[in-house]
This record gives sequence, structure tokens and C-alpha cells, in this order.
Amino acid sequence: MTISKNSRIFLAGHNGLVGSSILRKLKKKKYKFIITRSKKKLDLKNLNKVNHFFKKEKIDCVILAAAKVGGILANMKFGAEFITENIQIQTNVISCARKYNVKNLIFLGSSCIYPKLAKQPIKEKYLLTGKLEKTNEAYAVAKIAGIKMCENFNTQYKTNFICLMPSNLFGPNDNYNSETSHFLPAIISKLYSAKINNKKEITFWGTGKPKREMTYVDEIADACLFFLNKKTKHTLINIGSGYEKSIKQYVDIVARELKLKIKIRFNNKKLLDGTMRKIVNCELARSYGWRPKYDFKKYLGICVKDYISKYKKYNN
Ligand SMILES: NC(=O)c1ccc[n+]([C@@H]2O[C@H](COP(=O)([O-])OP(=O)(O)OC[C@H]3O[C@@H](n4cnc5c(N)ncnc54)[C@H](OP(=O)(O)O)[C@@H]3O)[C@@H](O)[C@H]2O)c1
Repeated sequence: MTISKNSRIFLAGHNGLVGSSILRKLKKKKYKFIITRSKKKLDLKNLNKVNHFFKKEKIDCVILAAAKVGGILANMKFGAEFITENIQIQTNVISCARKYNVKNLIFLGSSCIYPKLAKQPIKEKYLLTGKLEKTNEAYAVAKIAGIKMCENFNTQYKTNFICLMPSNLFGPNDNYNSETSHFLPAIISKLYSAKINNKKEITFWGTGKPKREMTYVDEIADACLFFLNKKTKHTLINIGSGYEKSIKQYVDIVARELKLKIKIRFNNKKLLDGTMRKIVNCELARSYGWRPKYDFKKYLGICVKDYISKYKKYNN
């Protein structure tokens, strides 16, 4: 089905980092019927409520950006919740979408679904060819189940459910909680706090050597709208910017952005490094006509300003 400005679009997770960017994009593009529910109003873990919601709302297409998400520490501590809640959310939404004849659905996953030792840049066909990174295995297994669900629904029910796999994302509205945040917001908040407390030295986790691709969140919002309007042969498609640096280099870039001169150390605990390199191959997305377009440094500056403007809120 082709999407029109009058299509009824359910955007799940509209308050989150990714969801809020998609919401801005849908509004900018003047989609008239954007349907959103906070977790408080509609807990997607509750099948009865999700079923009732789909029955009532007559939804044409779904963007599933709701998930239990967190950084390495949260993933290591709360594996039980990461696997259970994500499987519940995605199973309820994907199965109700099928039941109520939603033809187009975008399911968002993450590049951590690929094997820890996958050849880089990672191609979609490397899925399930090796062991996962232990620190986020529970989350990755849940996301893989979602991908396989979409794949099988497409084959059996002729749906058009597409799974987009972004690399690490950053953007305004990120999570800066020190227990649950991803590495870039953690770097921004730690360095800014060091700056305002006049610290002379700061220590980061791990060795600083792992390399990560960073993608601005509006890039994935673009990709969601692009693929919502496409009928694809493939269910699983990578999305990434191609911008790759080591963690240490990201620390240096943020320190420069904050005009901060400080002695930077790493605790050198390899356990906290995670996968040594993670960059996705986007040839498949390109073959459908999608191209990345955002510039890392410009958008990093926007995020740093966003964090500074909300610093008091985060530290109360
Ligand atoms: N952040 C990244 O670096 C990154 C990288 C790659 C892929 N992704 C993918 O992008 C998607 C969104 O991630 P994000 O970073 O935007 O996460 P986020 O900022 O934590 O937002 C998650 C959203 O999910 C909603 N949610 C969580 N549990 C829910 C439930 N039981 N019922 C209803 N809503 C629920 C939350 O709603 P409330 O606000 O109402 O509580 C929140 O708005 C995930 O699938 C993730 O795998 C993220």
C-alpha cells in the first residue's frame, strides 16, 4: 500500500530519542493522522490493550520505535527485562498489525543483532552466522526474534514489514542517565560536568580503542519515511552514516566542542569495551535509493547545546 498524507500512522515510542525525531519529520511533511500513545496511556506489553487500540484506531501503517533501550551497563544488569519486554512489545504490535490488516510496518532494531566477530562493515547476510556480544545478548536475541517474525509474516501473509538496523544513534532528546545512557551522551554529560566543576582529570570506562559508527537520529527518521513508502524484496536493511571514530576520538571531539582542557584517562577494563568495531554496510539501502546526508560535527554541536540547556533538569 502506498502511504498518503491522509494515512493513519501509528508511531510507537514518539517520546524517545528516535521516535521524537520521526514525529518531527512526520509533522514537517504534513502527515495529517499521526497516532501516538505514551507508555503510560498504552503499555505495549499488554496484548489486550494493544488489540483494543488497533481495532479502534483503524491504522494503515506502523513505525515501531518503542522498545526497552539502554547502554552497556543497563544491558548487563537488566538482561531479563531487556529480553522479556522487547519480545512482548514487538510481538504484540507486529501480530496486531497483521491481524488488523496493516500493510506497511517499520520495525527498528540495532546493529548489535550481528555476531560479535562479524566481518566489517557488517552486511545483512551476516545475521546468525556467529556468537553475539555477551553484554547485549538478551536485547539482541529479542530484536532478532522481531526480525524473524517480520520475515515470516511477509512470506506467509504477504505483509510489507521492513526491519531497519541503525548503528549507534545520537540526537537531541537523548538519555543522559549515567546508569542507562549510551556512550556518546555519557561522554557529553561527564565532560560537561567536569568542566563546570573545574576538574583537572577525568577517567572513562574501557580502553577507548573500540570504534563506533555514529548516525544522527534524523537520518534514521528519514530512512523510516523513505522505506515506509517502499515495497522491498528484503526484510532486513542496514542504515548508517559511514562516520566512524574510536571512543577516545569521540571523547577528544566532545572535549574540543566544549572548549575543555582536561587530562583524559581510560580505566582499561576490556570487559567494558564491548565489540571492538561496529559499522554497518549500507549498500542494500543505497540500492533502493536511500543515502545518508547529515554531517556528524554540525549535529554533535546541536546535541551538546541541547544537553547544556537541560543540564539543571538532568542533575536535579
Ligand atoms: N539510541 C540508539 O543509539 C539506537 C541505536 C540503534 C537502534 N535504536 C533503536 O531505536 C528504537 C528506539 O530507541 P530510542 O533510543 O529512541 O529509545 P528511547 O529513547 O529509550 O525511547 C523508547 C520509547 O519506547 C517507549 N516504550 C518503552 N517501553 C514501552 C512500553 N512498554 N509501552 C509503550 N511504549 C514503550 C517509551 O515510551 P515513554 O517515553 O512513553 O515511556 C519511549 O518513548 C529501539 O528499537 C532501538 O533498538 C536505537
